[in-house]
Amino acid sequence: MVKKVESLNNSVLISKAEFARRRRKLMNYMGNNSIGIIHSAEEKVRSRDTDYVFRQNSDFQYLSNFPEPKSVIVLLPGREQGEYILFCREKDEKMETWHGRRYGPEGAIKQFGCDDCFPIDDIDEILPGLMEGRDRIYYEFGNYPDFDNSVMAWINTLRAQVKSGAHPPGELIDLSHVLHDMRLFKSKAELDVMRRVTEVSAKAHIQAMKVCRPGLNELDMEAEIKYHFAKGGARTEAYNSIVAGGENACILHYVENNAELKDGDLLLIDAGGEMEGYAADITRTFPINGKFSKEQKEAYSWVLKANKEAIKVAVKGNPWTAPHDKAVQILTQGLVKMGILKGDLEQLIDEEAYKPFYMHKTGHWIGLDVHDVGDYLIDKEPRILEENMVLTVEPGLYFAPNTEGLDKKWWGIGIRIEDDVAVTKKGNEVLSKSVTKEIAAIEKLMA
Ligand code: GLY
Ligand code: MN
Ligand code: MN
Repeated sequence: MVKKVESLNNSVLISKAEFARRRRKLMNYMGNNSIGIIHSAEEKVRSRDTDYVFRQNSDFQYLSNFPEPKSVIVLLPGREQGEYILFCREKDEKMETWHGRRYGPEGAIKQFGCDDCFPIDDIDEILPGLMEGRDRIYYEFGNYPDFDNSVMAWINTLRAQVKSGAHPPGELIDLSHVLHDMRLFKSKAELDVMRRVTEVSAKAHIQAMKVCRPGLNELDMEAEIKYHFAKGGARTEAYNSIVAGGENACILHYVENNAELKDGDLLLIDAGGEMEGYAADITRTFPINGKFSKEQKEAYSWVLKANKEAIKVAVKGNPWTAPHDKAVQILTQGLVKMGILKGDLEQLIDEEAYKPFYMHKTGHWIGLDVHDVGDYLIDKEPRILEENMVLTVEPGLYFAPNTEGLDKKWWGIGIRIEDDVAVTKKGNEVLSKSVTKEIAAIEKLMA
């Protein structure tokens, strides 16, 4: 059987040249006399001999776009015979017939621009030789324990040969620090992919609002969302969708998604698709019967105000905590106005009196991982927002039933409004802007 390498999946939205630029930038930082080693993700058993759909390690993806498990990237800055080496599985007609196509070393060189590619089964013989003479190893320990052991074994192989003139690397440096800082700043192509996946996810949320009605099940809505993700080209979710009717919305990471949708309740959907590895992360909350009750409207208005005001301060030059501080201020003000908290606003904020009703942060970086990499603190101070960082803004209020001292009329109301925001030169771009969030617009859409 002839296997056509061209029909394998790989990025079509981010160019080969961009992947090469990323490796170049990383290698420039590492400097000559170093070696970078990055292991692919591993296949994970879901049940007996059935695996989860394979998902590449984001760091590996970022540097190579190579979509297979059992692969290793080796970067050797300044090496004359080639700086980018890949180890991967060999082609195997029988295995490919059962488990899917493989590039094989030749295909990998052709498609992914590595200077050399070797069979993964030969790595123990080849890698110590590549390490030899290099002073520093850039590697992220702790993610793949078996591979950690291999890295140590290769170093030990060289240490055992010191008397015969071998020069083992003396320094082990965490690769993630520099690599994750690179990933925090999105390129034009990355922003395009993120726009696309967020737009597809936005459409799915709109569809969910349109079809929602009492008597359906949370699972019906999950199905609707997933259908539209997939139809839009986002085969997988970026994280398990949260489809939470009524009081289930007060469980922040509720994923059971199997309860009946009741007349008079709100529905919170926190769902985003994944495209070429990039995540969307959108939450909308709306009335199951299409009409907000008085209390729902009141609480929703405060969360919406917090969302909009927080987005306004998610701009270049502000600390990344500015949206959270703004949201806390508005939500606490709202809790006072709703009669849920009593006292001086500043004092209530200082004492974190809002925490029983707003217990999470207002956002996080987003990119190849939904909770993306990148430091939040620099020298113990909140990081300053810069152009091309992308973060979520997601204030909420959660009034769980039986909360002590909370008037029953609020019980079971859980609201979050989450948008994905790219910081620009002059302000920001709300990638998820096309999903309705104004009360009147939601009611009109659902009418
Ligand atoms: N969906 C997870 C989050 O909003 O962070
Ligand atoms: Mn989020
Ligand atoms: Mn979310």
